[in-house]
Order: sequence, then C-alpha cells, then structure tokens
Amino acid sequence: MVPFKIRNIDINPPLILSPMAGVTDFTFRRLIKRRGGVGLVVSEFISVEGLTRNNPKSKRQMRFDESERPYAVQIFGGQPERMAMGAEMAEEIGADILDVNCGCPAPKVVKNGGGSGLLRDLPRLETILKEIKKSISIPLTLKVRTGYTDSTINVVDVAKMAEQCGVEHIQVHGRTRDQGYKGLANWEIIRQVKEAVSVPVSGNGDVVSIESGMKRWRESGTNGILIGRGAMQNPWIFRQFEDVLAGREPYRPDLEEKKSVLLEFFEMCLDEMPEIVALGKMKQLAGQFTKGLPGGAQFRQTLYHSHSVQEILDNITTYFGSISLEGNFGDGLVEADADIEITSCEPSVLPLENRSSMTAEHWGSPLETSL
Ligand SMILES: Cc1cc2nc3c(=O)[nH]c(=O)nc-3n(C[C@H](O)[C@H](O)[C@H](O)COP(=O)(O)O)c2cc1C
Repeated sequence: MVPFKIRNIDINPPLILSPMAGVTDFTFRRLIKRRGGVGLVVSEFISVEGLTRNNPKSKRQMRFDESERPYAVQIFGGQPERMAMGAEMAEEIGADILDVNCGCPAPKVVKNGGGSGLLRDLPRLETILKEIKKSISIPLTLKVRTGYTDSTINVVDVAKMAEQCGVEHIQVHGRTRDQGYKGLANWEIIRQVKEAVSVPVSGNGDVVSIESGMKRWRESGTNGILIGRGAMQNPWIFRQFEDVLAGREPYRPDLEEKKSVLLEFFEMCLDEMPEIVALGKMKQLAGQFTKGLPGGAQFRQTLYHSHSVQEILDNITTYFGSISLEGNFGDGLVEADADIEITSCEPSVLPLENRSSMTAEHWGSPLETSL
C-alpha cells in the first residue's frame, strides 16, 4: 500500500475518487480534494457522441481546475473512431490521464456498445483501445467490471488484452454488469487480475470504512483503491485512509466542520450552476452526508421538501444546532454505511424529487442529455 505510478504520474496516496455520473463533477471533486488524501480524481463519464458532436454539456463535463491534478477524463462509447476523437479532445484540454469506461450497466449505454457492453465484445474493445492509443500521448487506463454475467466472468482476459494494447492502469469494480450495484463486490476476482498483469491494478467496490477497506485492500494486493459512494457519505474518508497508512490516528472532523463542509459545497454550487441545480446538488450531498447521524432521516425529509436556498440553509442550521445540543454526535469519526441502492450509472442515489431538479433542461442528468 505504497504510492504507485501511472507511467510518470505519481498516484500518491494510492487512493482514487471513483467516477460517479451526476456526482463527481467539477464542484464535488474540488470539495473532496480539499479534504486531502486523494491521489487521483476522475471526471464523470462523458459521452464521446456528445463530445464529438460539440454538445456543450459534454465539453463542460471535462472542465477541471489545476488544483485537481492529477486529473483523469473518463469517456464512454462504442464506436472506435469517436472514442479516439473524444480521447484526443481530453488530451487537448490538458487531462493527465484518459480513462475508458467499460463498466456502466445502464441499458442505453450498453445498447450502443459502450460501458459494460464492451465486456461482451472484446474485439471491439481491443479496436477501441488500439485506436485511442494511436491518437493520444497521455496514459490510457481502463475501468472495468468483472464480467457481463455471473457465468461469463472474463475480467482477467480483458485485463491481459488491455495490457497488450498499452493500457497503463486497470481499475476493477468487483461486480458483474448483471449485478448492477447489488450484492457485494468480489475482491477475490480483483486479486486474480492483480496477479495476471504487470501494470498497476486498483480495486473498487464497497469501501465505506477504514477497517473493511484496509482488509480488502491488503487481501487483494492491489496498488490502489477507488472509493465512490463512501466519499459522498464521508468526504474525509481518503484523509482517514492516508492517516492510517502513515501510522497515524484517523482524522476526526467535528460537528462544526461537517456543517461548514456542507455550506462550502452549497456556496460552490451556487457560484457555478443555476440555482435550481444547486438546490438539487445540495440535497443530494446533505442526504448522503447525514446518513447514520442522529435524526438524519428526519432531517433528510425536511430537506427534500425545502424549495429555496434560504430554507435549506435554515434547515441545516437548525439540524446541526439540535444534534450538538443533544451531545450525541460521538467522536466525529464518520463510518459510512453501504445501504445505497442503485441500479445503473445514473444518479439514482437521489430521491426522485431531487433528480427532477438536476435534470433541468439546460443542465440535465448525464445520461439524459448525452445519449
Ligand atoms: C451515482 C453513481 C454514478 C456512477 N457513475 C459512474 C461513472 O460515470 N463511471 C464509472 O466508471 N463508474 C460509475 N459509477 C460506479 C462507481 O465508480 C463505482 O465503481 C461503484 O459505485 C462501486 O464503488 P463504491 O462501492 O466505492 O461506490 C457510478 C456509481 C454511482 C453510485
């Protein structure tokens, strides 16, 4: 569990913010990066159909800040020429790494040959990887699931083929396409991938607490780990891992700090997006963030029914004021739970009413406008 390199790029610490459509945008990535402990951030997955047809939203999704480096752009699609063009565009805007999505289970993505659909068509995946390699000079990486179905688990073959094509980092989410987000990630298969190739391999799936995360990481022997949903519930999770790796006690944010991170996020959202979208984003993060906190469920209900910036701010102040009075916040070490149910890459972790505000016509959810 030491820093590793993707070609000459240091991934230090070896902890990666996993790409999440509708979540890991410019705003969220910087919020997480500021908390410390993150070695690599990745964009949301970006449609090459949108990018290469000049869809402004797809282009906006590539935007990043220098403070985010190293920064990877993840693209998805099924057409080799378009994937190569999209990859070139990512290099042009200054991305450090180009990542190919070979894991999204959403029917719309799979139907068009992209995402986890590529696991059923290895010749196509091979052509895509080779075409991309020809068109970029930054490192090419792959994020993949273990297979399409339980009976067609093929990630070891995929990884070997990808390595032959010049892929320089393989990230494995330990679930099949058919599993969606159900059941548990299989870290034993992730271990097999690590043993089968010489390029760095990172594992992913269900890392929501330091203890269980360290166990999975150690047992699988991967170079790095990716954390997705756990970071929404606990933005300090990377820093806490980094502390443990360095032999320190994990950082413990206090209640005031939790509140101020929510407010910081809200301010960033309001600066960068239309108010209606900012409200949706705020509800999304606040909802995840208060899981496991006293009175969290009731707070989330109140929040989902808030319709203005002021109402949300008032509700946050009231909520945090009440739990600090109760004095039962514990020691502030956040242990995220893994009870989010999702069925695709879509931002369906959000309650329905939040999703509608995120899909405001001019902004849209990633899948709705890019496909
Ligand atoms: C809302 C949401 C959106 C996601 N979008 C993407 C995506 O755009 N690209 C991708 O490779 N994986 C995506 N994923 C999968 C995550 O990157 C990750 O592989 C998965 O959630 C398992 O990791 P976790 O248990 O740490 O969350 C998404 C997951 C969620 C919950």
